[in-house]
Amino acid sequence: MMNKRVKIKDLLTWAPESQELVVMGWVRTFRNNQFIALNDGSTNINLQVVAELGKFDDVLLKRITTSASLKIKGHLVASTGKGQQMELKAVEIEILGDSDAEKYPLQPKKHSLEFLREIAHLRFRTNTFGSVFRVRHSLAYAIHTFFHEQGFVYLHTPIITASDAEGAGEMFRVTTLPFDNPPRNEDGTINFKEDFFGKSTNLTVSGQLEGELGATAFGEIYTFGPTFRAENSNTTRHLAEFWMIEPEMAFYDLEDNMNLAESFIKYIIRFALDHNRADLEFLDQRLADEEKALPQDKRSEMGLIQKLEFVLNNDFERITYTEAIDILLQSPAYKKKKFQYEVKWGIDMQSEHERYLVEKHFKKPVIVRNYPKDIKAFYMRQNDDGKTVAAMDILAPGIGEIVGGSQREERLDKLESRMNDMHISTEELHWYLDTRRYGTVPHAGFGLGFERMVQFVTGMTNIRDVIAFPRTPKSAEF
Ligand code: 4AD
Ligand code: MG
Repeated sequence: MMNKRVKIKDLLTWAPESQELVVMGWVRTFRNNQFIALNDGSTNINLQVVAELGKFDDVLLKRITTSASLKIKGHLVASTGKGQQMELKAVEIEILGDSDAEKYPLQPKKHSLEFLREIAHLRFRTNTFGSVFRVRHSLAYAIHTFFHEQGFVYLHTPIITASDAEGAGEMFRVTTLPFDNPPRNEDGTINFKEDFFGKSTNLTVSGQLEGELGATAFGEIYTFGPTFRAENSNTTRHLAEFWMIEPEMAFYDLEDNMNLAESFIKYIIRFALDHNRADLEFLDQRLADEEKALPQDKRSEMGLIQKLEFVLNNDFERITYTEAIDILLQSPAYKKKKFQYEVKWGIDMQSEHERYLVEKHFKKPVIVRNYPKDIKAFYMRQNDDGKTVAAMDILAPGIGEIVGGSQREERLDKLESRMNDMHISTEELHWYLDTRRYGTVPHAGFGLGFERMVQFVTGMTNIRDVIAFPRTPKSAEF
């Protein structure tokens, strides 16, 4: 057994004492043939290990190169040098794995995020990605904790489905048919009866429809899994494969839904502030440094931690879609023709509109509700005005839409007539409609884009930098 090591993060909370202990990790730098900066991924803080001059073999010392992995036995002592309170006085050094420092792509200097994306298999070993992915972990943990504490059941909805929950047609097909010579029907169309599942299937765009089946039995459920969208959007906020959290609650109306979403977001931000202080401080500084290169008016008004605390301490703004459009029409930006896209009642707001509302007008997260029915999915509850549905989107500063949700149409006749209008087969979704046939209840839910949430908390501007191995148009490396 070899795993009797102490993690650097834990060791930093200890008092210096002479007791012997073992650490393991990767070399970040080695100075003066004497000082090893060792990192083990538990924190961005490197442990200074001192290899006293004359005590170790020259051949061994030569093998201590950047990114080599080491096992070190030593004593923790108060440091006399600057920059750290403690250091480890090495008694034994074992090289676990050599590394050719000349060839190692990560040199001890600042690399651009673009370059690091090309070596995403190694970028976890940088401070920035160390912090981002430890925060990502904490957020995921907090999400499960939040729902568990509230008595929600975690439902694992399928990855392969035959339905297009959002009705947007942005699906990746799943098939085992030979693409060069697929079996055909007499009319020339592809015969999916011969496909693996005996029908046409795709990767899920959302677990919501199955989630509703769970909610109408357990009362409250949530999903947390990968979802896939074949939308050809090359932006800093879109991925083809992203993770989504979708709670679905029976006996909830739109207002209950908004209240839950707001307290949920605040809970997970609070969790990260409480558990990832050092990482968030690092990311706060990183963002401030990055923004120094920007002109004054492009910089954030608040630092990262300040922004997170501000979100925690203030209510989200709540407005209707109609009010949002009015604000845009009254805005100086509109009057000065600064918007690229048209503004009028009925539009699907573009990112420039959403950002105006949250960043310029309200300067905090905004929940917009009651959208026009024509720009929203079939399952949303129809309002009495005949024009809008009980939808709600949460818009966040710097990100735009972070949550999309609604109260669901629980009235069978209204739902079926909407599906017919939108050419969605009521036969194929017979199982979904059964929830409305057998004890239907008012219910609601929403979807939080996990990566957009991680972006918000870490201050990373590109969504490709908050998921380990991003899948985007023309890119599925690693
Ligand atoms: O607004 P969307 O499409 O809503 C749904 O899928 C509903 N079924 C949710 C529900 O009510 N249960 O997506 C929800 C959220 C968006 O607000 C956004 O944060 C994120 O998912 N999202 C994406 N994130 C990254 N890349 C993409 N391509 C995304 N598309 C949506
Ligand atoms: Mg949406």
